[in-house]
Amino acid sequence: MSTRAMAVAGVMSGTSADGIDVAVVRISQGRLRPQLTLLAHEGFAFPVTLRRSVLAAMNATVTSTAELARLHWRLGLAYAEAVGATAQRHNVKLDLVGCHGQTLYHQPRAEWYAGRRFACTWQAGEAQAIAAHLGVPVVSNFRPADILAGGQGAPLVSLLDYALFADAKRGRVLQNIGGIANLTAIPPGAAADAVIAFDTGPGNMVIDALAQRLFGKRFDRNGSFAAGGTVLVPVLREALKHPYFRLKPPRTAGREQFGREYAAKFLEACQCHTSKPEDALATATALTAATIAQSCERWVQPRMKEHAVDLIVSGGGARNATLMAMVAQRLQPLGWEMAASEQFGLPAESKEAAAFALLAWQTWHRRAGNVPAATGAARGVVLGQVTYA
Ligand SMILES: Nc1ncnc2c1ncn2[C@@H]1O[C@H](COP(=O)(O)OP(=O)(O)O)[C@@H](O)[C@H]1O
Ligand SMILES: [Mg+2]
Repeated sequence: MSTRAMAVAGVMSGTSADGIDVAVVRISQGRLRPQLTLLAHEGFAFPVTLRRSVLAAMNATVTSTAELARLHWRLGLAYAEAVGATAQRHNVKLDLVGCHGQTLYHQPRAEWYAGRRFACTWQAGEAQAIAAHLGVPVVSNFRPADILAGGQGAPLVSLLDYALFADAKRGRVLQNIGGIANLTAIPPGAAADAVIAFDTGPGNMVIDALAQRLFGKRFDRNGSFAAGGTVLVPVLREALKHPYFRLKPPRTAGREQFGREYAAKFLEACQCHTSKPEDALATATALTAATIAQSCERWVQPRMKEHAVDLIVSGGGARNATLMAMVAQRLQPLGWEMAASEQFGLPAESKEAAAFALLAWQTWHRRAGNVPAATGAARGVVLGQVTYA
């Protein structure tokens, strides 16, 4: 198959359920790696009612088939409109779309169900709705192939991280802070099979839940509530004992571990020590910063040896100044340089979306998209399905 340059839209909506990020990327084959240029990116907040349905479906123990079917279609229509609006606003003619979908369920470890043990994952959003709306082929459903190859189905952003950031002389740590926080670490001069990638723990998920409960806000803008509080050290210390933080990478987390129930318990623990809501937010923010720092110290720094390392932050959490200051402070002993993904041509919110543009391009050319060292899969596999327009 030819590898001419293509304009590919990547569409991401993450565990924060805040909305849809679209990145349009021109991708061509370079000598060693694919070459990417960001042409456009846009963010679209979910309508309040859709966000409510997404959150309800993610946390639900009881839902109905009609509800899930409608949500799957509603998301497909939302993605279609988001990509269409982006292409129109920036006047680009798309060749291909890669749509991650909305994770409603992710169970990377095998469990018993109906007489059989297996792992499974589900990203909702009807791809045909996008293909029909735009008249462009769509790649979707990226995660199952990796799970069936023995991987955790996540993280899948590693291929982009490697293609864009691997460096001969400097170690690179790509820290994304979405609902969940995940990192990809690339030692200097490392081959793709030497990357380290895993979810460090909660990103904005607990912060968002507390901002909603205590202040009626969807998130702590710029971290200003947290900045007015004091970290409750005993609560933080206790929270760091959660078994997830002791798991060896690769490991993946989601609302299953750090969702609504977790946030409710965390808040209760805070309220035993304080009546000031800002303190709870400061403590939730410190939990994200501490688990990022511990992950870097334990699992990443030993692989970087004596080399210079850049920590490159992306995701909505990069806009939380209090969180960024806490991360910088906790990482100071390592002597790493902190950078924003903007400095590398990818605004904080566009990186994950751009990753799914690249993954779609890989699938279109029948190339593997997972990085086995990152997901734990036995081999590289072609990810997802193509829906032809
Ligand atoms: N200006 C801001 N200040 C603080 N936090 C922000 C800001 N903008 C975005 N965020 C946080 O980023 C989250 C969305 O990040 P995103 O990377 O889209 O995550 P996901 O991939 O889980 O959807 C929001 O829920 C919010 O917590
Ligand atoms: Mg988002």
